[in-house]
Amino acid sequence: MKELNKFTMTIPSRSANEAFARMVLAAFAVALDPTVEEISDIKTAVSEAVTNCIVHAYPNTIGNIYITGEILEGRVVKIKIRDRGRGIENVEQAMEPLFTTGGEERAGLGFAVMQSFMDSVKVSSRLGRGTTVIMKKKISER
Ligand SMILES: Nc1ncnc2c1ncn2[C@@H]1O[C@H](COP(=O)(O)OP(=O)(O)O)[C@@H](O)[C@H]1O
Ligand SMILES: [Mg+2]
Repeated sequence: MKELNKFTMTIPSRSANEAFARMVLAAFAVALDPTVEEISDIKTAVSEAVTNCIVHAYPNTIGNIYITGEILEGRVVKIKIRDRGRGIENVEQAMEPLFTTGGEERAGLGFAVMQSFMDSVKVSSRLGRGTTVIMKKKISER
């Protein structure tokens, strides 16, 4: 699919950047005139993916989060969120609802939420090397 617009940004995995990242992606998607609900879906999915970088990829340390947003032909928003953190041993298992390595504090629903609010979610990861989440959402015709 042809790329019509694109941005990239790198932010440290500080918790304040979770709100910042979701606002940036929401602002980027505004070009497609999304509904309030679509904007909210994007924010929620970005929030989950960035939170995972903050809590799981770089536990007890601060690392970089690399974010790319793209507008593709056909009113599609593509979002890539990558870290160079701890990595995931078994991606299929990690994506199962309720699976968490975060203990009592975590619900294990982050990936399930991303999947339910976006049209597609692809996760690739290498232990000790980092994780990449690529999500796409088609914005309805107005
Ligand atoms: N960026 C990441 N880096 C390392 N591990 C991750 C990352 N994202 C998710 N995980 C792993 O996948 C599990 C499931 O993630 P998620 O569905 O968001 O649930 P939760 O964050 O509540 O644990 C996490 O507990 C963690 O083990
Ligand atoms: Mg999570």
